[in-house]
Formats: sequence, C-alpha cells, structure tokens
Amino acid sequence: MQQPNWYKNSVFYEIYLRSYMDGNNDGVGDFIGLTKRLGYLKRLGVDCIWLLPIYPSPRLDDGYDIADYYSIDPDYGSLNDFKKLVKEVHKRNMRVVIDLVVNHTSDQHPWFQSARSDPNSPYYNYYVWSDSDQRYQDARIIFLDSEKSNWTWDEKTQKYYWHRFYSSQPDLNYENPAVREEMLNIIRFWLDLGIDGFRVDAVPYLFQKDGTDCENLPETHEFLKKIREFVDNNFPGRILICEANQRPKDVVKYLGREDEFHMAFHFPMMPRIFQALRSCDKTHVEETIKQTPTIPASCQWGTFLRNHDELTLEMVTNEEREWLWREYAPDPKMRLNLGIRRRLAPLLDNNQGKIELAYSLLFSLPGSPFIYYGDEIGMGDNISLPDRDGVRTPMQWDTTLNAGFTKTNQNNNPVISDPEFAPAMVNVQKNINERHSLWHKVKRLIKIRKKEPALQTNEITLLNIEDKRVLAFIRTNACERLIIIHNLSNSRIDFNFDYPAAEAKTYIDLISQIEIGMTIASVKGTLEPYQSLWLKPKKRNILGYKKLSII
Ligand code: NOJ
Repeated sequence: MQQPNWYKNSVFYEIYLRSYMDGNNDGVGDFIGLTKRLGYLKRLGVDCIWLLPIYPSPRLDDGYDIADYYSIDPDYGSLNDFKKLVKEVHKRNMRVVIDLVVNHTSDQHPWFQSARSDPNSPYYNYYVWSDSDQRYQDARIIFLDSEKSNWTWDEKTQKYYWHRFYSSQPDLNYENPAVREEMLNIIRFWLDLGIDGFRVDAVPYLFQKDGTDCENLPETHEFLKKIREFVDNNFPGRILICEANQRPKDVVKYLGREDEFHMAFHFPMMPRIFQALRSCDKTHVEETIKQTPTIPASCQWGTFLRNHDELTLEMVTNEEREWLWREYAPDPKMRLNLGIRRRLAPLLDNNQGKIELAYSLLFSLPGSPFIYYGDEIGMGDNISLPDRDGVRTPMQWDTTLNAGFTKTNQNNNPVISDPEFAPAMVNVQKNINERHSLWHKVKRLIKIRKKEPALQTNEITLLNIEDKRVLAFIRTNACERLIIIHNLSNSRIDFNFDYPAAEAKTYIDLISQIEIGMTIASVKGTLEPYQSLWLKPKKRNILGYKKLSII
C-alpha cells in the first residue's frame, strides 16, 4: 500500500453508513453490512471510501454532533467491527477515510456538559462564551433556515455560547491549547487504528476575531499546519481532505505549500455543472476552469456532483441562485438554506443521457472524483423527509424487502417509494444485470480514466469553440493528449473546429470505441444529444474499430 500521492488519482465513494447495508438486521446500516459490500465497490472501481461520522451522537445533525470522539456509535457496531472493516478494505487494496468534526461537538458531549455545569471546570474554556450576543456580528449564519444567531443563551452559565451550525453544536475554543492538543490526540487515536486519513469538516471557522467574518483566519491556517505536521511526522502517507465551502482563491490556501491539506473539495465547479446542463451553455464551467488556481504538485482537488448535504449555491451570484432554484427546485420543499436538497438523478430529470454526461464531465475534468452512494445507480430522493434526510435514504440493492438494505420488518428508515425511483425501477442488481445501465457506464468511465495518464494530471486546455453547447478541452500528460468534447444539449450537433496540432489522422473515442477522422488542421464529427467523446490518437492499426467519419 506504499504509493505516495495515491489520493491524486483515486476514485472516492462517500458512504452514509446508517443507510448503506444492515448486517445484523436491526434496521440500521453498520460495519458488518458495509464489509459485505466491499466487493461491489471494488467492482465499480472505487479506490477509497469516505465514511460520514461514525461516532456516538444524539444525531441532531446526523452524527456531525459528536458526543464521544473515541468510540463508535453502537448502532454501527463495535470498534472491533470497525477494525475488521479497515482490514478488509486494505485487503482489497482500497482505502478508507473517515469524517473528523473539528469545529464543534454536540452539546451532549461530556466536555460541554461539564463546561455548562461549572465555570471552574477545566472544560469551560473548551468553548466560546460571552456575556453579549453582539460579538462577531460579521460572521454569517450558515444554517439560515433554522438558526437566527450564532450565539445561544445558556441558562445554566448565564452566558451565550458560540456556534456556527445548529445551536446543539457548540464551537470548540481553539484559543485554548488544551483543545488543540485534544484534537491531535483524537487524530492519533484513529490513525493508529489504520485508517488512511480524514475528511475534515467545517475547517474555515476554527477561530473568531472581531471585525472579521470569522472565516479563513490566519490562526486557523496556523493550527491546520500543526495538524499536517503531526500527521506527516507520525503517519506518513495518510491524508487530510479539506471541507471548506469557499471560493477557489480561499480554498487553495488550505493546501498551503504542501503543508496543510492534501486535498480540498472544489465547491465552485459543482453548481456550474448543473447550470451548464440546464442552460446548455458551457460559459460558467469554462470560467471556473480558468479561475481555478494551480495547486502544489502533491495536492489534489476533490470534485463531486452531489453529496450528503444540500447542493450548495453559495458560490454563485444571487440572480444565478434564484435561477437555479427555479429550474431545479420549483417546489419550496426542495430548498434548504442556500441550496437544493435533491439527488443527482431527479435533478437531471432521471434522464440517463444527461446523468451520464454529468459523470463524463466529472471524470474528464482534473481532480479526484467523489461519488455519492446510490448516485451510481440513479437513486431518487424523498423531499417529504426533514432537513437533508431525503438524500440519505437506504441504498437500493435489489427488489426484496426494504430494497435488500435490511431484512427487518421494523425498518424506520424509509426506502424511496416514488414509483419512478422505487427499488423495482432502481436497484444495484438491475443495474448490474443490464448492460447499458448507468452503473455500467460509470464503471466504464472510471476504468478508462484509470488507464489514461492524460486524465490523471491537472493539465487542461480549453478549446475555443463558438457553439456554447459544446464544451471541449485537451487533457495532457508528458506523452499524450486527449481531446474531450461534451455536448451539453439535447440536440444533435455537427462540430468542426481547428486543431492544428493533431497527432494522428485517426482518433478513437474511448467511450464508444468508435473511430473518428481528422485532417491535419481540424477535427470534425457529430455529437448525439448529451454525448461525450474522449478522443485518443490512434497510433497503431487496431482492428475492429468502426469508422465514424473520415475527412
Ligand atoms: C458540513 C457537513 O457536510 C454537514 O453535513 C454538517 O451539517 C456541517 N458541516 C456541520 O458539521
């Protein structure tokens, strides 16, 4: 497993354990269940799984409110089950990262319980208290739909405490060296168990300072560098992934000079992909590619289409957000905070061509792609469930009871029942059995991506094509160039553009295996609705390819 920079070209798969696979039939997904499904993930081409919080928690924010950093939520199994999972993951030459919530704890955490019961408790200064709720007024409220302030009054202490998320999630006080030390101990504990790293939650908010928006402060970066140093010194090869929903110019600072995070999620690209797919216009995707700063050699972006949260629209203008809401969330129940609480397939009208195009964009752009569980088979959502629960429903394995997720009759975790997305229509088994399913397409794109070194660099050059519906770019490595062309529209489009640097007379579309001809100076062909071409110069005469067009 000693491959330095393994994360730079890995396919990640995000798992909400509670809904993935129930191994002991109590209606809750768990480690035993997931362990049984590792073969499925390996077959899809997943390199690394990311587990949402697995710690004991009152679950007022679905586990992002931790009550004990050193153990496992008993619903998910024992520490031994977890160790077994890690071992089985590694046996398959895959890896596992887990969520680490650094910014806040649950108000049920013994530290907070002790702090609020006694101002002389050593834990009192683990949190941020104030006599007034007027401090740090420039800090925005993130959970806009449920919180009115970042301060909550505590009767017991007769003080306000600071929180950037739900009031049940008091922020830790990073001014306190004891808190910083606690966090390093927690990191050591989990890395000692053999995990491959952390997805670090909500990193921009660790410190507060009057007169600032309390995000991305220098003190925050300084502490994150300490974490990195600690990890590098004690656990080389393990990684830190940054969750900072910020503009690229701010996010890139979290990669530092290869001395903070190894990876950071590319938040701005995601809404632009949805914008492009709806407007059939590549403009904003191209702009985002241009605005994405170069990152240090050992770092990588984490790219994604959807995740366990609402599709956040913080990175677009107010008018664009209104437009995206109108287009993608016409029912107010589909909206949450500044985002849209829906899954990939329903967002894209359950149109397989469009969903495949979204994946083709994801896998052909620079960055390591993250797949959200269930989106590889086109699972639906349930907007009648509260908060973000509607995109966290049980994985649909087959058509048996509870979609094969659990065998109990007492399942409290409702499976999608909307006939269009119900297990009868959408499930793993069906996807695997049908040759042209979404699952097979995703698997194929992953396979090609892994085989093509040009797709594994961060080199990208946009091709200048006037037609806004056609997004085309070159991906390069030292030896080879691939031409990638996407049709963002539902129309058939003939394309013909200058390409003076053609290496070969014939190119092969790696997706369809069809040949396409070139002249010395241009590339010409036809794109079907939502089709992507991943064109590779044909060097040798390979028999068996169908000819599409020869100029
Ligand atoms: C970001 C996580 O993705 C989200 O699910 C959570 O609610 C907040 N951070 C607070 O921890």
